[in-house]
Amino acid sequence: MDIVTPVIERYAHEHTRSEPELLCELAEETRRTRSDHGMLTGRLEGRLLKLLVQLVQARRVLELGLFTGYSALSMAEGLAPGGELISCDIDPRAEQFALRYLARSPHGSKVTIRIGPALETMASLNGPFDLVFIDADKENYLNYYRAAIRLLRPGGLIAIDNTLWSGRVLAPADAADRTIDALNQEILLDQRVENVLLTVRDGLHLVRLRS
Ligand SMILES: C[S@@+](CC[C@H](N)C(=O)[O-])C[C@H]1O[C@@H](n2cnc3c(N)ncnc32)[C@H](O)[C@@H]1O
Repeated sequence: MDIVTPVIERYAHEHTRSEPELLCELAEETRRTRSDHGMLTGRLEGRLLKLLVQLVQARRVLELGLFTGYSALSMAEGLAPGGELISCDIDPRAEQFALRYLARSPHGSKVTIRIGPALETMASLNGPFDLVFIDADKENYLNYYRAAIRLLRPGGLIAIDNTLWSGRVLAPADAADRTIDALNQEILLDQRVENVLLTVRDGLHLVRLRS
């Protein structure tokens, strides 16, 4: 199920300022060389993530799900000099791909990659973070949310991708569907936070920890 009709999606894409040329190149190589290129966040969400980093004036960002580095570099662009972004992934191929682009970007030095299961990496990190972007394996989304809250500063933001899951949250059929639906419900009932579930792309759940 398309969350937004393709023509509206295209219109929104065309009326959103373009990402830097390097990110276009990264996206193009990802589409050309990776059969799983559907995991790319892309222009609309990438520009939104950069904006969110700027709006919360983030100095420390944590990302779960590096893939080829598109969202990491988008968010790094929004970080002031001296800011840092830690990006987690389990796949060393993702690291090799992303490192080539980080090396060419003026924002690449802000990014540190941590390879391994994201939950283990999170357990080894000290907070607080200003923003956490969750975009790794869906079966762990509830665990990621609970761990992210512990690492977040009061007033900080969690952005969780794919929270409409192509509409499968309406009739959950497998573990991933059920976890995402349960997470959306848990957030709704969580008195520590304010939230809005945006219909951007595949659903982007924004969660602010009350200060
Ligand atoms: C949807 S992709 C991330 C897309 C990326 N944010 C972007 O904008 O291009 C999900 C990533 O999560 C990684 N992943 C899957 N399971 C993981 C785990 N347990 N710990 C850390 N990363 C994991 C995958 O290797 C994959 O690269």
